[in-house]
Amino acid sequence: MVSLQLSQTRLIESLYDDHQGDIEFGTVLSSTQIDDDDALAELIEIDGRERSVIMQAPKNGFFYVLDRETGELLSAENIMPTNWATHIDMETGRPVEVQGARYDDTGSAMKITPGPGGAHNWHPMSYSPDTGLVYIPAQQEPFIYRLDENYKAQAIGMNLGVNFWDPVAEINQLPPEWGPEYQGQLLAWNPVTQQEVWRVTQTTIENGGLLSTAGGLVFQGNSDEELVAYNDATGERLWSAPTQTAILAPPVTYSVDGEQYLVVVAGWGGIDALFLGPVVNPDGTKRNVSRVLAFKLGGDAELPALPERLAPPPPADDFGSDGQVQAGAAHYTRICSVCHGVGAISGGVLPDLRHSAFAADAAAWHSVVMEGALAERGMVSFAPIFSDEDAEAIRAFVVRQANLTAR
Ligand code: HEC
Repeated sequence: MVSLQLSQTRLIESLYDDHQGDIEFGTVLSSTQIDDDDALAELIEIDGRERSVIMQAPKNGFFYVLDRETGELLSAENIMPTNWATHIDMETGRPVEVQGARYDDTGSAMKITPGPGGAHNWHPMSYSPDTGLVYIPAQQEPFIYRLDENYKAQAIGMNLGVNFWDPVAEINQLPPEWGPEYQGQLLAWNPVTQQEVWRVTQTTIENGGLLSTAGGLVFQGNSDEELVAYNDATGERLWSAPTQTAILAPPVTYSVDGEQYLVVVAGWGGIDALFLGPVVNPDGTKRNVSRVLAFKLGGDAELPALPERLAPPPPADDFGSDGQVQAGAAHYTRICSVCHGVGAISGGVLPDLRHSAFAADAAAWHSVVMEGALAERGMVSFAPIFSDEDAEAIRAFVVRQANLTAR
C-alpha cells in the first residue's frame, strides 16, 4: 500500500490530483504555504474505539489526526495563532483560507503567521502513551509575504518570487492578544480532544526536538543554551543543565548494563540562526559549539570553559550617500540576509558583517564578495548577480548598520 501525506504548493496538489488512481490514500494538507513536517504514527483511542492513526503538526498551524489505514481525516485543529486560514473543512480536508491570504493573486502584501518557519518545523514532536499527550516544539513566527512583480530566476541567491526586501508602508498587524510576534512554545496537546493541556513559553523561537520517557518526563534542549526536563503531566520544570550552546536536535535515551543515559547532539544552527539574527541573537552572545552531550544519574563531568569572547572592533566610519545605503540595504536583504542575518545582525553562526574587518576596507570586501576569496569556506563570489557598485553599496549599508547598532 502506498500512503501519502502531501502539503506544499499547488504544484504538488496538481501532481496529487493526476496520480490519485495509483495512491491508496492521500491528504493534501494545505496549498498556500510551504509546509510539511514530521508525522507521528500512534495508536490512540477515539470515541471509545482504538484506532491506528497518524498525527501531524505541519508548518501550517493545524494539528491533524488521520486514520492510518484509510486516510480518513479524524480531526484537525489549530495549535498556534493562524491568520491565513480559519479552520480545516472536515469534508474536503482543506484549509478555509481568509480573504487576502493569496498574496500572489491580490498583489498586496500580507503579514502571515505561521510564516515560512512554520508553527512547527522539523524539530521532532514526541508522544507519551502514559499521558496520551503529544508534545510539540511550536512557535509563532510571522513573515510579510508579497509577490515579487519583477521576479526572474537568478544564477545564485534565493529564488522565491517573494519580495521581502522592499519596506512595506502599511501592513496588517497580528491581534495584540497573540502576544509578541516571535514566540517559542512547548505545547502539550491532547490529540483525542484536540485541546492544549499545558504550555511553556520560551525566550525565543527555534527550540529543540522532544523526548518523552516512561519516567514521566519530557526533555527538550532550547535556544537559551540549556537542556530541560519537564513533568509530562503538568509542564513543571524539574531539572536543567547549561549546555553552552543552543540545542535543536531531540535527545535520545538508552541503557547499557542497566544504567540509563540521556544523549543529545548540541549545536546552534538552522534557518533562524542564519536569517533571523535580530530575533534569536539580539545581544550577539549566541555561538555554535558542536558536541554530543551524555548525561546519567550521578554523572559529575563538567563542560570545559569556552574561549573568552573578544570585544568586537569599533565599526568603520560611515560612508556613501543615503541613496547608496538604501540600494545596498535592498541588495543585502534580498541576498546576504539569508545567511548573515536581517539588518546585518548575525544569528551567531556566520560572521556578523558589522564587525568584520573586511567591511572596513573596500579592496578586502571586493576580494570576498566579488572575487570569491573565501569560496572554500562557503562564501562564494556574487559577481554573477552584482556589479562592483552594488557590492560597495552593500558595504556602505553594513557599515551604516554597524554604527547605528553599536553599543
Ligand atoms: C549561502 C550563505 C551565504 C550568503 C547568501 C552570503 N554569505 Fe557571506 N559568508 C558565508 C560564509 C559561509 C562565510 C564564511 C564563514 C567563515 O569564514 O567561516 C561568509 C563570509 C563572508 C565575509 C567574511 C566575513 C569575515 O569577517 O570573515 C563577508 C565580508 C561576506 N561573507 C559578505 C557577504 C555578502 C556581502 C553577501 C551578500 C552579497 C554574502 N556574504 C552572502 C555565507 C554566505
